[in-house]
Amino acid sequence: MSEAVSFLKPRATNPTTNPVIDDVVRANIAVKRANALELLHAIAEEHGAVTFANSFGAEDMVLTDLILAEKLPIEIFSLDTGRLPAETYTLMGEVEQHYGTRLKVYFPDATAVETYVRSEGINAFYDSVELRKQCCAIRKVAPLKRALAGKSAWITGMRAAQSATRTELPVRQFDEANGLAKYNPLADWSEAEVWAYIRIHGLPYNALHDQFYPSIGCAPCTRAIAVGEDVRAGRWWWEDPDNKECGLHKK
Ligand code: ADX
Ligand code: SF4
Repeated sequence: MSEAVSFLKPRATNPTTNPVIDDVVRANIAVKRANALELLHAIAEEHGAVTFANSFGAEDMVLTDLILAEKLPIEIFSLDTGRLPAETYTLMGEVEQHYGTRLKVYFPDATAVETYVRSEGINAFYDSVELRKQCCAIRKVAPLKRALAGKSAWITGMRAAQSATRTELPVRQFDEANGLAKYNPLADWSEAEVWAYIRIHGLPYNALHDQFYPSIGCAPCTRAIAVGEDVRAGRWWWEDPDNKECGLHKK
């Protein structure tokens, strides 16, 4: 069972983005942080060439903070599909400023995008699941392969409670599609814990999260959710919830 979001209120009273941060919450987050750090150190030590896929979602802000604040020897990359929301680009700039760093961004192959758009149309992803997957293949999966070239492990911000497709998510797995180890250090974190971490550490985050977008991908394929819906209900909302994934995370 994936977690349903129970908020639908503006920023000031939103219980998920404004959780009560008492001593118990602080102590829990400190333990979670220490465990995640220990794991990240172990991953770097075991694999050497490790990279973290940063989509700038709330979970990814936690991992970005752990890696950059602790100066871990783990690379960070992002995939710019060319269709990201304006708010994500704003956040990307804020992250560069906050950490005094330059982002490593991968773009899709220009010819592949041109060919697809000329043949299928500018918003062809709405026409069929097949065309949606083709768009993701060009704009996300192919650039991911370039980002993972030469690496022996990669890290994601996925959590088990996010959706029906992730309930069995392990912390460590082998990514058959790309031929390397894959880690999900926040697999057992709850959404509330992610937000408590963001608040305690004063991290920048995507403004869309305060407009009922718990999960954010490309602008045309992401929408706000309603009370009681799963956190990923706003992603490819027209597709079957038991199967919708973009190809970055093959089971
Ligand atoms: S996905 O279906 O788009 O892959 P989601 O947005 O839930 O799902 O992201 C899950 C994880 O995939 C993120 O925490 C991040 O590690 C990786 N990821 C997704 N989109 C990107 C992106 N554009 N750039 C880098 N990593 C990404
Ligand atoms: Fe294309 Fe939508 Fe996939 Fe983004 S999420 S790559 S716009 S189909």
